[in-house]
Amino acid sequence: MNRINLTHLRRMKAEQNKIAMLTAYDASFSYALEHAGVDVILVGDSLGMVIQGQESTLPVTVNDIIYHCQSVLRGSDTVFVIADMPFMSYANEDKAIANAARLMAEGGAHMVKLEGGTIMASTIKQLTERGIPVCAHLGLLPQSVHRVGGYRVQGRDAVTADELIRDAVALQDAGADMLVLECVPAALAKKVTNTLIIPVIGIGAGAECDGQVLVLYDMLGLTPGKRPRFSYDFLADTDSIQSAIAKYVVDVKSGQFPTIEQQY
Ligand code: KIV
Repeated sequence: MNRINLTHLRRMKAEQNKIAMLTAYDASFSYALEHAGVDVILVGDSLGMVIQGQESTLPVTVNDIIYHCQSVLRGSDTVFVIADMPFMSYANEDKAIANAARLMAEGGAHMVKLEGGTIMASTIKQLTERGIPVCAHLGLLPQSVHRVGGYRVQGRDAVTADELIRDAVALQDAGADMLVLECVPAALAKKVTNTLIIPVIGIGAGAECDGQVLVLYDMLGLTPGKRPRFSYDFLADTDSIQSAIAKYVVDVKSGQFPTIEQQY
């Protein structure tokens, strides 16, 4: 099989085939995910918390993402790989172009992901005009945790919900080819998914998105402390890591995950 690309992912949205995405940070898990049928791997800056043991994603560097991206690419042949742009690595357009180019050229990523609303539109335009595919990220923005004052559901009232829809359209118009929507009410996520032509991948955003993503260590029940409400321990229902990942893929593709219990 050829490597999954953006045309394939766009077609999946059009044909209402759900996209299964997970984070991974190394070659062994990348191999396991690919063999379980995962379509997209995100080398997320969540690695700061689940791999490095940091309190937030903020200390992660471009070099960290490149290292983990290279490892993920060595473990897989067909998945589409997205690299997260770390905190402040896209603080201005020149920085964004230089760092995104490193993630693609040195890390081998097929797309970069960055957090933020309409303010990021011109950066996304600059990147996409230079041939760098961009996944936007709206809703809960972990890189803004100190500004927002915690990890909270976003877009609960009419004003912030409307603002999020406007942001999503602006980012698509700027050239974004995918959107991750984190921790927003399911009804709002459905509206965004139906409004956009690009694939919308939810995490804590209900079952109506075009696909789902979880942090790998959360869905294997490995993350210490309280698991976020939107996640689920797939290993608890199965007898091996490989079966847990395979169950995630089946449940996402059949629409059985997330259930009402994992949404807002
Ligand atoms: O870094 C990450 O893992 C992410 C997901 C939570 C979407 O951005």
